[in-house]
Amino acid sequence: MKLIAFGMRKDEVGFGNQWSDDNQVDVEITQDLLTNETIQQADGFDGIIALQTIPYNETLFSKMKEMNIKILSVRNVGVDNIDLVAAKKYGVTVTNVPAYSPNAIAEFSVTQLMQLLRRTPEFNLKIKNQDYRWAPNISRELRSLTVGVIGTGRIGRVAMDIYKGFGAKVIAYDVYPNAELKKSGIYVDTLDELFEQADVVTLHTPATKENEHMLNRDSFEKMKHGVLIVNTARGTLINTEDLIDALKSGQVGGAALDTYEFENPIFNHDLTDSSIEDPLFNELLDMVNVILTPHIAFYTETAVKNMVEIALNSAYQFLTTGVVETEVK
Ligand code: NAD
Ligand code: COI
Repeated sequence: MKLIAFGMRKDEVGFGNQWSDDNQVDVEITQDLLTNETIQQADGFDGIIALQTIPYNETLFSKMKEMNIKILSVRNVGVDNIDLVAAKKYGVTVTNVPAYSPNAIAEFSVTQLMQLLRRTPEFNLKIKNQDYRWAPNISRELRSLTVGVIGTGRIGRVAMDIYKGFGAKVIAYDVYPNAELKKSGIYVDTLDELFEQADVVTLHTPATKENEHMLNRDSFEKMKHGVLIVNTARGTLINTEDLIDALKSGQVGGAALDTYEFENPIFNHDLTDSSIEDPLFNELLDMVNVILTPHIAFYTETAVKNMVEIALNSAYQFLTTGVVETEVK
């Protein structure tokens, strides 16, 4: 068996090599991202490991069929950029890593909310200008706030526990409520109810077609004035133009965005010597009550180790048994 792992960063290589030694399986490691062009490097291999950062489309899957490669194992959670219909058409099984470390993302989303709440970016700016006064940037405490969690899956549930630890009132909405959580009476029946009650709205749902622009002009209007928004899930869940308008009017008091609707050409690229030709992004960058991070909520040592190992295990399991529990259906 020979596997090829695309887009491997330096911090992943050691885990890939260790897995290869432990399992006595050849793993070719390349820094190149998986694209319709670089896929040629996979010729002669039995399985592909990759990270979901750019779209994987019909052309890619047809090339996999030509090369008789039947498994694409992505080492992350989201599969929204993958044409799963095309994968099926060309006989490719796609696997993901559903839970490499929900804590990594949940902890980060709470961290960013805390920064918004304590107005850290505003103080950073003041300090840069040698203004060391306290007022008027007073804060609120989490125990006096209601946090509305949308999506109570793996990450949302960890985030809820952390918020409860701070003494916040936590309410939640999910299209498929969790049976255990339901008993605790934490769910509201509709998104509108959550919008009405929450001081903080935090997103933890996948980016399905139905969820596109789940937060938009209408929903911002239903929220409390000055509501804080946290999005570590997917950029397409928010209509960015509507968010910018709501930030400008003060209806939204601040936003912590680790994912951005049009992030692909920006996030995880070195743009030191380039200018960004994205007016919406530039507008967000200029807002002192917006915290932008380049999709790094996942980025911890624990998560990275699990991502590499579990993705390799999935490809191995598929190639040795023909079935794999991490298959994306
Ligand atoms: P999960 O599948 O465990 O949970 C998602 C939950 O959302 C499910 O309970 C589902 O029923 C619910 N849901 C779906 N549509 C909904 C809707 N319209 N309204 C309310 N609830 C809805 O997923 P997860 O592992 O918790 O991941 C959550 C999100 O975080 C995903 O978008 C994922 O891609 C993203 N993510 C981001 C990072 C990062 O680094 N920023 C890392 C990993 C995952
Ligand atoms: C995910 O695992 O879905 C993420 O968002 C992390 C990213 C490296 C693709």
